[in-house]
Amino acid sequence: MKEQPVKFSSKTVHYFFDVDFSILTEHYPKEKLLLITDENVYGFHRQRLNGIKSIVIKPGEARKQQATVDAIILQLLEMQADKQTVIVGLGGGVVTDIAGYVASIYKRGVRLVQVPTSILAMVDAAVGGKNGIDVGEYKNQVGTIYQPDLLLFDYSFLSTLPREEWINGFAEIIKHACIKDDSQFEFLAHHTIDDFINDKNLLASFIEKNVGIKLNVVLNDEMETGERKLLNFGHTLGHAIEACYNLPHGHAISIGMVAAATLSNELASLSLPEKDAIKQLLRKYGLPVHFAFDTDKIWDILANDKKRENNHMSFILLNKIGEGVVQSIPLNQLKKLIHQRLLD
Ligand SMILES: NC(=O)c1ccc[n+]([C@@H]2O[C@H](COP(=O)([O-])OP(=O)(O)OC[C@H]3O[C@@H](n4cnc5c(N)ncnc54)[C@H](O)[C@@H]3O)[C@@H](O)[C@H]2O)c1
Repeated sequence: MKEQPVKFSSKTVHYFFDVDFSILTEHYPKEKLLLITDENVYGFHRQRLNGIKSIVIKPGEARKQQATVDAIILQLLEMQADKQTVIVGLGGGVVTDIAGYVASIYKRGVRLVQVPTSILAMVDAAVGGKNGIDVGEYKNQVGTIYQPDLLLFDYSFLSTLPREEWINGFAEIIKHACIKDDSQFEFLAHHTIDDFINDKNLLASFIEKNVGIKLNVVLNDEMETGERKLLNFGHTLGHAIEACYNLPHGHAISIGMVAAATLSNELASLSLPEKDAIKQLLRKYGLPVHFAFDTDKIWDILANDKKRENNHMSFILLNKIGEGVVQSIPLNQLKKLIHQRLLD
């Protein structure tokens, strides 16, 4: 077990790596805890939850909407949850996003603990305090930045994570390597996903490293005015495709990263061999690198993206593997590239 305090402007958050979920009741009285989780996680791990009061939602991105938040708030009121309640988000990124958002608005803010149970939530969604819900097909348009008190990394939850979700999570890990860490890119190229699934120690140190990469970026820019935008590498187009075609998040981000790598070769200094190496690594980890989307449909969604500023779009490109940059691209140039050759 390792405890790492991380100082944000609003508070110090305690990250506990390689711990057992049961330590939760050492930190808070059980009757004050209220879990938000989904049917999959609850179904597999119910007996470990020690009878803690739970609100169980249906799984999946389609539930990350205001209607789910309203239903949860109604249940919290019926359960007489008060200002002393500690909301615990136990699940993948959908659950940690919803739990974070609910905790930040219920009674104008109650305490929050995040217990991520998917790779994606461990290395990304639960780290950094950002939460959000979708509005119709527009991803993460509403939300807050709200830090939990604690984050617990109990790797034993991963024993029930479907392989497809491991693959999804590795899309964000490859993203971290692309924007910040060329040595991690090399490391990934010399391993396979099964190495991480089968070796708990390798996985534990790797997750901790990736949490560190994300935290470094977030701590340099808590309110997302600059460097934090790098974490959106692959996400601008990725989110549009995810929303339009209901692709798994990691798959959509993978296709988005290939597109962003193509743009980086065009508009920044990423070399062609590096672009190909990114494609190869994504393929090696089971991720798609092509998708024949309807360019008009995707363009309509992109034009409404929150990263759009007047007639420019803030886009994340790579100067090289391990060095992401934020670049403002004129919308008409982007539109042309999308319609002509982004999927080369
Ligand atoms: N807030 C942020 O900074 C941030 C960053 C990245 C992604 N996200 C969000 O995260 C979400 C994607 O996260 P995700 O891929 O974890 O989605 P998810 O929560 O939908 O989880 C994926 C699937 O795995 C299941 N699952 C999770 N843990 C499991 C376990 N231990 N055993 C068995 N099944 C398990 C879930 O029930 C679900 O079916 C998206 O909504 C994305 O927008 C947020």
